[in-house]
Amino acid sequence: MTMTFAATEEASAEEASAEERARQLDECDELAGFAGQFYKTPGQIYLDGNSLGLLSKPAEASLLHTLNEWKTLAIGGWMDAAPPWFTLAEELARDMAPLLGASADEIIIANSTTVNLHQLLATLYRPHDRPHEANGNGIQRTKLLATALDFPSDIHAMQSQIRLRGLDPDEHLVRVPSRDGLTICEDDIIAAMTPDVHTAVLPSVLYAGGQLLDMAHLAQAARERGVLIGFDCSHSVGVAPHCLSDWDVDFAVWCSYKYLSAGPGAAGGLFLNRRHRERPGLAGWFGSRKAAQFDMAHELDPAPGAGALQIGTPPILAMAPLGGALQIVNEAGIKRVRSKSLALTAYLMSLIEEKLQEHGFTFGNPREDARRGGHIALRHPEAGRICRALREAGVVPDYRRPDIIRLAPSPLYASFAECHESVRRLRHIMDARLWQDIAPEPGLVT
Ligand SMILES: Cc1ncc(COP(=O)(O)O)c(C=O)c1O
Repeated sequence: MTMTFAATEEASAEEASAEERARQLDECDELAGFAGQFYKTPGQIYLDGNSLGLLSKPAEASLLHTLNEWKTLAIGGWMDAAPPWFTLAEELARDMAPLLGASADEIIIANSTTVNLHQLLATLYRPHDRPHEANGNGIQRTKLLATALDFPSDIHAMQSQIRLRGLDPDEHLVRVPSRDGLTICEDDIIAAMTPDVHTAVLPSVLYAGGQLLDMAHLAQAARERGVLIGFDCSHSVGVAPHCLSDWDVDFAVWCSYKYLSAGPGAAGGLFLNRRHRERPGLAGWFGSRKAAQFDMAHELDPAPGAGALQIGTPPILAMAPLGGALQIVNEAGIKRVRSKSLALTAYLMSLIEEKLQEHGFTFGNPREDARRGGHIALRHPEAGRICRALREAGVVPDYRRPDIIRLAPSPLYASFAECHESVRRLRHIMDARLWQDIAPEPGLVT
């Protein structure tokens, strides 16, 4: 009896000191003030910033502002709204450019990630007319290079672009295998940049395992080998800095609904290095030079820079929240965002190691700061059911089959105390085996 009491007392003293530690970390957090600008459900801890970021007050305000302009200005909104809808994509690109390390004219806000990838491949992937600058050996560059752990939509886009060229994806899409099923070794990617590779399309951060690839190093290796290189930055934009121009990347695509918190279905973005002057592969009137668009000529007069890759009328209501969302990230500063993100994920990992050792969890993400994106990939054979138990306990993660629980504390609104509390709730789920009461089938959206 005395022993149990002493043990309980010791455990609660340990718990109190862990809570105190979390509180101290929050007190030293320079970005703590930003959380008040987000709509958080009371009692809930939201760790799904890498799938759909929470709504912020500035994003809501910019959407409501645009709705009101539609109400009051109607068609006049194209020129008289503030900013005019006609140039909203360019305005937002200017605000987004620092996050990507690019000039404003190398970026445009448009479409979805997948459509933007189609557009860039339609524009740049020309296997029939670009024979091997690098080696002069006459080998035709016809292949696309990807990884075995890419997001499926990117692979679908690459396969269909290969088919559209009359080629066979089984032969012309090379997927660099993973050595451990979770990460991709950069040296393996570089070794696969052979003289028959035309373009490499790589993730900045692996969507499941959370590995951050060394984009600068890969871009340099691609340049040296005469391979074009593009990145899908969906899992790094808004949570890690980029220097796309300095790294001399050819192109990039990303979405705005994850760490940028611009809302479900928010318009994505693309980067096209200035060096490229190709005509858009998928042309449309919104790719026109602005002054010429309403000439209604049948010959496209393309906008200078990345703007030429727009296609049709921009989805103004799906772009409006991005204005407010970018204000917050730019005010916080991407370097501070990255530092806090690394501190949060390191803290989460240390708590998990300390408190959950006996429950069979492992990490699928790299441990080193330089190789970690914004989320951790916690692995467990019962990940699906544990995720649902976490949701029932008021912690929102997401699940990637077969065994990954993704935990993404967004640096703009997650606190160290919330990380601590999430691990406490997870420990309770595991100690009490609460996940066993949950049916094994996951929902349609995980
Ligand atoms: C890495 C990555 N690429 C591409 C996509 C697809 O994006 P979209 O549906 O906006 O085209 C996603 C969606 O979550 C993603 O995570």
